[in-house]
Amino acid sequence: MVDQYKSEQFEGLISKIRSHEAVVGIIGLGYVGLPLAVHFCRKNFKVMGFDVDQAKIDSLTQGRSYIKHIPDEFVRELDAEGMFEATGDFSRLSEPDCLLICVPTPLDDKLEPDLSYLLQTTEQIVAAIRPGQLIVLESTTYPGTTEEMMQPRLEHSGLKVGRDIFLAFSPEREDPGNKNFDASNIPKIVGGVTPACLEAAVALYNSITKAVPVSSTRAAELTKLLENTYRSVNIALVNEMKVLAHRMGIDLFEVINAAATKPFGYTPFFPGPGLGGHCIPIDPFYLAWKAREYDFDARFIQLAGEVNISMPGYVVDRTAEALSKTGKELRGSRILVLGIAYKKDIDDDRESPGYAIMDMLTERGALVSYNDPWIPRLRPTRKYDFKQKSVELTPELLTACDAVIIVTDHSAYDYAGIVRQARLVVDTRNATAGLREGLDKIILA
Ligand SMILES: NC(=O)c1ccc[n+]([C@@H]2O[C@H](COP(=O)([O-])OP(=O)(O)OC[C@H]3O[C@@H](n4cnc5c(N)ncnc54)[C@H](O)[C@@H]3O)[C@@H](O)[C@H]2O)c1
Repeated sequence: MVDQYKSEQFEGLISKIRSHEAVVGIIGLGYVGLPLAVHFCRKNFKVMGFDVDQAKIDSLTQGRSYIKHIPDEFVRELDAEGMFEATGDFSRLSEPDCLLICVPTPLDDKLEPDLSYLLQTTEQIVAAIRPGQLIVLESTTYPGTTEEMMQPRLEHSGLKVGRDIFLAFSPEREDPGNKNFDASNIPKIVGGVTPACLEAAVALYNSITKAVPVSSTRAAELTKLLENTYRSVNIALVNEMKVLAHRMGIDLFEVINAAATKPFGYTPFFPGPGLGGHCIPIDPFYLAWKAREYDFDARFIQLAGEVNISMPGYVVDRTAEALSKTGKELRGSRILVLGIAYKKDIDDDRESPGYAIMDMLTERGALVSYNDPWIPRLRPTRKYDFKQKSVELTPELLTACDAVIIVTDHSAYDYAGIVRQARLVVDTRNATAGLREGLDKIILA
């Protein structure tokens, strides 16, 4: 290992990183890759962005952002400084000194890891690779991906990891729309295949934030899955507690806020209509899939998944129950879903529980429409194809609907106005806190 540290390629790479002369290539310019590109540019690194989606490249070349919470000015700022270039030409993967992979890692139809994007990217890198490059996988995946799947393929090029090229895993911790944390102040976990790989990757991430080295790529891969499973399990706990609290006639949000005053040993999590996004509903499946290779049944993870997946059905049942108290049936009722993004104030609708709610309502004969200021139209997803456009939120519409379900608590909504005009409000997010007093037309679900 000591010799590898002294390899000429390592010394060249580390000195370029430390002087910010290294060119950073980002592969996959989505919710993770684009903000990362912005942060490296801001730290005076030249950045090349690679994507298979030509529309994204055109948009960036014209100085336009396609992610609503990343303003056009950011993209124009990069362009003006000549620090950023977007391209779909993957033969140019040889140009950057560091390649950061941010491509999707979804599930396939059998709910198993779909590594096809990552495999394609790895092959594209192998076709262009040159000595002295650092390759870091940022996409979320199961422990072992970097060393079992990527390393042998990269070494097919004849270049040796740790001596000629350097390979690491550093999970992305982006929280879209969070105004307090971004790539400049979120510590970055880093695991390297060899000590040289680790040192190069730590040097790179230390130039934009604080790098936290761990002993292996597997430890780094599992760290990300632990973080997301922790969220999934805790959200499942409060979701289950919500159902119980309702039966007991207790407002769980009040209870959670009271518990959160404890200065130690308690972290508040909030119930909702079910899980959404590219991470929390998906990542535990990556871990459970790999666990099977070790004859291990990840029961806790599975149970959390079951509870969270049952939440859209619970919301629909509660809506039907509330309607029946007013003498109406779900069948034939006009229901307006407010918010289809998986969380507030972002334009990401992947895996949104809103889709499952709309689907179940439609199945049960309700006439469903939706409004979301962030999502003007519904695109086909792995499971659903609604072909709907966001309807205009007018007082007339609110009055005409039999029920309004708040699925996503976007800040743009005037909740007092909604409560005033709607006939029945099913609130899955506690968006009507402070407005419910004495009103039995609002239910928490
Ligand atoms: N979105 C989040 O908040 C978040 C947070 C943490 C981690 N992650 C993880 O980061 C990874 C990326 O997620 P995302 O939300 O940015 O996905 P995304 O779909 O927004 O972006 C992925 C991008 O990769 C591009 N792409 C696909 N195949 C490609 C290829 N072969 N070469 C180049 N580009 C390709 C797509 O066109 C797209 O622009 C996933 O593993 C995800 O689990 C996401």
